[in-house]
Amino acid sequence: MSEIKKQKSRFVCQSCGYVSPKWLGRCTECGAWNSFVEERVVPQPARAQRAPATPVSKPLRLSEVEVTEEIRLCTPFTEFNRVLGGGIVPGSVILVGGDPGIGKSTLMLQQAMALAGPDRPVLYVSGEESARQTKMRADRLGPSTEHVYVLAETNLDAVLEAGEEVQPGLVVIDSIQTMYKPLFESAPGSISQVRECALELITLAKRSAIPIFLIGHVTKEGYIAGPKTLEHMVDTLLLFEGDRDHMYRVLRAVKNRFGSTREIGVFEMTEKGLVEVTNPSAFFLSERRGDASGSAVGCILEGTRPILVEIQALVAPSSFGVPQRTSSGVDPRRVALLLAVLEKRVGLRLGTFDVFVNVAGGVRLDEPAADLGIAVAIASSMQNKVVDPKAIVVGEVGLGGEVRAVAHLDKRLAEAQRMGFQRAVVPHSSMRATRRVAGVTVKGVERIEQALKELLT
Ligand code: TYD
Ligand code: MG
Repeated sequence: MSEIKKQKSRFVCQSCGYVSPKWLGRCTECGAWNSFVEERVVPQPARAQRAPATPVSKPLRLSEVEVTEEIRLCTPFTEFNRVLGGGIVPGSVILVGGDPGIGKSTLMLQQAMALAGPDRPVLYVSGEESARQTKMRADRLGPSTEHVYVLAETNLDAVLEAGEEVQPGLVVIDSIQTMYKPLFESAPGSISQVRECALELITLAKRSAIPIFLIGHVTKEGYIAGPKTLEHMVDTLLLFEGDRDHMYRVLRAVKNRFGSTREIGVFEMTEKGLVEVTNPSAFFLSERRGDASGSAVGCILEGTRPILVEIQALVAPSSFGVPQRTSSGVDPRRVALLLAVLEKRVGLRLGTFDVFVNVAGGVRLDEPAADLGIAVAIASSMQNKVVDPKAIVVGEVGLGGEVRAVAHLDKRLAEAQRMGFQRAVVPHSSMRATRRVAGVTVKGVERIEQALKELLT
């Protein structure tokens, strides 16, 4: 009886993670209804005797704070370093999020193997796979290394103990959702377990200057375990994205206390793990044939990086009453809009035709600057005319058929030049702010019809 009395209860909002000593019908933090779940805290006498997590600190004058050039840990993967802002900052906690199966474990095991050395052992904690599975994966990825320690464990206390033993220079937790602290009764993966475990690992990282990578799955709603909670706590959030049917992956910094969030890294998933793609434009254009109708080359910006992509369209007479419109890599609503513009402003009778739009390599075009390329590819297939294979095309298309300005035209033209393109059809209104690029003839257009006239032969 007295045992039960001693156990303390607390209530945790499952929506935002707010902790309250009593049950609330509505969360005072996030406003969610009925979101509180009771959680019992098992008292631990040892807890009170533990040393303070961080050394006691006192306020310093700003001018007294010593700034030393931090030495970042660099992996042999230049794409990875760049996304982090030039390497791994000691003591930083980096959350790597992404859909299940996208390659997070592969990426981090590769980094672990590349970074491990005699004076820098790496502790790879796998809560999802056995040590044997991790070993089998490692064997595919490269020569085995003595300095990576694998621990198949989900109890965070055991992980910390192993950390004491190994004294690692880098820790990978795969994944944070599988970790739990026995002190709390809620299940692993619940918001409070995830938060408590992350908090403890963050404290460890800051105190010991060991960088820690946390792998996190993105849930259906697009959150990494518990809305935003983790995101606020970590120094850096990287998202690993891509299409599972295609082999290319993009690593993107969404939050970074130590660098820009505009950088991306491109990788390709191969049989031997992830390989860096240092020239994405060449990669995405590699299968292009310049002599077929329905293909146009556009230029998108991924972060600050221009990437040339091939946009393909196929327009064929419809054999059913309702014509099909299928697109991959482009929002179908955007395609519908462009079809309407082509019909109304250019006079293409697309109403009885099936239209398929595809972006080669599984790239997603989220930028309006890709509009004109999509429209040109569709018109090219419809009229069975080939688009000039030496031209790139960029521009946003408005409802009136006008071609609107795009940002960073300079960068896009420079990329076109680098990849050997000789012509560029661009929004007329973007021309003024753009410098000339040697070897590339730039044509500014105001309307979609002009672009078609320029490009279709
Ligand atoms: P994984 O790293 O397990 O994904 P996550 O940790 O994000 O869930 O990656 C799984 C996929 O990657 C799986 O479909 C197999 C593929 N893969 C390769 O193609 N090549 C490889 O060398 C490895 C290790 C995995
Ligand atoms: Mg995994």
